[in-house]
Amino acid sequence: MARVNIELKAIDRDPEATLARCLALGAKDAGVLPQRDVYFMARRGRLKLRVEEGALGGELIAYRRTDAFEPADSTYIIAPVAAPEQLIEALEATLGTVAVVSKRRHLLLWEGVRIHLDEVDDLGSFIELEAVMPDAGDLEAAQEKVARLRAELRIADDALVAVGYADLVMEGAQVLLLAASEAMENAYAPYSQFKVGAAVRARSGAIYAGANVENVAYPQGQCAEASALGAMVAGGESAITAVAVVAERLEHCPPCGGCRQRLSEFGGAEVPVYLGRPGSEPQTVTLGELLPGAFDRESLQS
Ligand code: THU
Repeated sequence: MARVNIELKAIDRDPEATLARCLALGAKDAGVLPQRDVYFMARRGRLKLRVEEGALGGELIAYRRTDAFEPADSTYIIAPVAAPEQLIEALEATLGTVAVVSKRRHLLLWEGVRIHLDEVDDLGSFIELEAVMPDAGDLEAAQEKVARLRAELRIADDALVAVGYADLVMEGAQVLLLAASEAMENAYAPYSQFKVGAAVRARSGAIYAGANVENVAYPQGQCAEASALGAMVAGGESAITAVAVVAERLEHCPPCGGCRQRLSEFGGAEVPVYLGRPGSEPQTVTLGELLPGAFDRESLQS
């Protein structure tokens, strides 16, 4: 059964003070859990396998969450796993691993809200608030509780983090560039010998990748971006939050005019587009910069 959380994540600049404030509010101390999360390339949404130190098994957690600064709802399914290391091997071999995140999680419970005080390897200290439904009642009540706790714990706007730990450990751009690069390897470009790969991050958090597909009747060829968008639509999604484009023979491959229009169909002017290769700093532009004065839905209605 899928469950829903209201979640907020922020950098914690003073973990000791935060812990003291949580306890002063009457939060129940549920102890410290060392956890290791292995994130996989999911076909839809996000997928991670969690192993807690000292626990016999693990948990496979499938979830959908949009990257957002403000409290966002997240739908998830947790499946208990008896042989986590073997399952990690199996999923690594078939789906591929995105990142591994190790952390010490201090868990506190306050009125149906889980407070995570996380010390994340290589990243530092973070706080997460998770109002678990239905413990926290309806959606509005859960949002109110998170807002109240956020004020009590003095979580400042500039401390809020929009993305997941996996994206922080392996920068979001790198995850997308890697997916685009893997797709590029399979490009079908016998006529131009110009292999291109593209990856889009959809609203659920899932990544969809595609490669260019050429044809002996040249105009029938398809760009990598179009292939990636097709995979996303086939996966049941229609909104993108980031894009990456990788080309074998060009350091920064600018999307063609048609693909700028195609990408703009599914994302706003603020959506970042990473041009480059995995392992190096990409050139980052936005869809708005790539296609100023775009013909959009408003144009159609006027
Ligand atoms: N190509 C893409 O896949 N995306 C772009 O944005 C630029 C061009 C492909 C199309 C064709 O297969 C090859 O690159 C050479 O034009």
